[in-house]
Amino acid sequence: MLLAFDDDGPGPVVVLLHGFPMDRTMWSFQRSSVGSIYRLITPDLRGHGHSAAPDGVYSVDDLADDVIETLDALQLTDPLVLGGLSMGGYVALSIAERYPDRLKALMLLNTRASADSPETAANRERQAQEIEASGETEPVVSAMVPKLFAPSTTEAHPELVARTHAQMGRTPARAMVGTLRGLATRPDRTALLPKITVPTLVLAGLEDAIVPTTEARAMAAAIPGSHFIAIPHAGHLAPLENHQATDAAILGFLESLW
Ligand code: MLT
Repeated sequence: MLLAFDDDGPGPVVVLLHGFPMDRTMWSFQRSSVGSIYRLITPDLRGHGHSAAPDGVYSVDDLADDVIETLDALQLTDPLVLGGLSMGGYVALSIAERYPDRLKALMLLNTRASADSPETAANRERQAQEIEASGETEPVVSAMVPKLFAPSTTEAHPELVARTHAQMGRTPARAMVGTLRGLATRPDRTALLPKITVPTLVLAGLEDAIVPTTEARAMAAAIPGSHFIAIPHAGHLAPLENHQATDAAILGFLESLW
């Protein structure tokens, strides 16, 4: 499926994939910073933002195939820099495994390589059924939002939390259901990590309640030659919560590639 996207800036191509259930607007800070130096492409993954939301389960590999199809349509077949936050990172790892020739470098932000635990998968299925039964996404979204932000962000930037909550609330019910089921059944890609040969940046939020810094550090340690950076004053959404430090990490990494 062809995706909606923003396409900013000059220079070498950098693609950034958003988390769940967010959309490409989560990269607004990076559009100004990264997008003023590089050609930054930020798609809306299937079911999110302005991309179509079909029925059915959205597997992580389906989401990855959509990204490849969209890049093909843009005739961007040369290796490029691909980054993803959380769910976007799962999609980036799917591309790293299944389309390795498309990558020049990889950026894994606030994400993990492992599959869901049985408890997490069961909880997602419960949430999917709850949404199907009521047609409402708000209770599920409201339960997710507080876990995404560092307490310091919630206190200092309530407008950021409110904006993200409102955006997540616009993700359609069938996209929430399809994605929850796709995430719950995604493969474990831990075994891929030692086989990654492109330069890789692993970025963690020091106060990430969803992917603990220790887990992100262990993922980085499994990827040969990777760079690991922990962002202070940031939870699960480091590019939004502390965009200055995140931008510096991303720009420093990109600069090292050319
Ligand atoms: C995300 O931010 O994309 C989600 O936390 C991913 C997940 O629920 O596993």
